Amino acid sequence: MSCATRPYVLLSCATSIDGYIDDAADQRLLLSNADDLDRVDAVRASCDAILVGAGTVRRDDPRLLVRSAHRRAERVAGGRPASPAKVTLTARGDLDPTARFFTAGESDRLVYCATGALEKTRERVGRLATVVDAGDPVDPDWLLRDLAGRGVRRLMVEGGGTVHAQFLAAGLADELHLVIAPFFVGDGRAPRFVGEGDFPWHPGRRARLAEARQIGDVVLLRYALSDRCADT
Ligand SMILES: NC(=O)c1ccc[n+]([C@@H]2O[C@H](COP(=O)([O-])OP(=O)(O)OC[C@H]3O[C@@H](n4cnc5c(N)ncnc54)[C@H](OP(=O)(O)O)[C@@H]3O)[C@@H](O)[C@H]2O)c1
Repeated sequence: MSCATRPYVLLSCATSIDGYIDDAADQRLLLSNADDLDRVDAVRASCDAILVGAGTVRRDDPRLLVRSAHRRAERVAGGRPASPAKVTLTARGDLDPTARFFTAGESDRLVYCATGALEKTRERVGRLATVVDAGDPVDPDWLLRDLAGRGVRRLMVEGGGTVHAQFLAAGLADELHLVIAPFFVGDGRAPRFVGEGDFPWHPGRRARLAEARQIGDVVLLRYALSDRCADT
């Protein structure tokens, strides 16, 4: 598949200094700060769809909506829905229809589901989302082509680690926004940004740092992972 036939893919993640994206406690760990959350909101508002893995839907219960009323109004004035479409993927279909992914806002919702869990998933959330038979296993490359066919030109991937790792290892990311929070988690039970993998960027092929920006007490590192990523 050529790059032009898939959406522009922007990965977004916040980590601790020691590379954790969460801790092992029940509560969701806040890594970002208010100004950075506003920046993330602006990035969301610039996208046609936001994707998170089913693990993040279960663990974080995110709304995945544009928060700023001004940005929502601008999108609507431009003929777009107030918030991007929400997208998730699942192999097991263990999704709760009361999760905010399904209940918050009016955005289109897409669930890319492995064939084996299709019936169960349609029973659970079929009234609330379009459940797509995405084969077994779900291939991120195929998923991106399907999203392009649905008019998605710019996709934000907000995690978690399993999903980020697949897009990175498959060379399907154009840009990475990595935010470093000023503390350590230091708990091996907590998830890290990505685990082991055969990534296209390594000591012999370094990624291009397009920008480093301080945002209060966090730093944003913006990596250009393909030629489609502009420097500014
Ligand atoms: N700091 C941050 O920026 C940030 C952002 C987002 C999330 N997080 C954290 O990340 C953690 C969750 O990460 P995670 O790695 O456990 O979960 P995840 O990446 O959100 O989701 C993994 C799940 O997605 C489904 N999936 C992934 N790839 C698939 C494929 N190719 N085919 C079919 N299904 C696929 C599977 O769902 P099923 O199990 O349903 O089959 C899999 O268990 C949480 O702790 C959350 O707080 C942090």
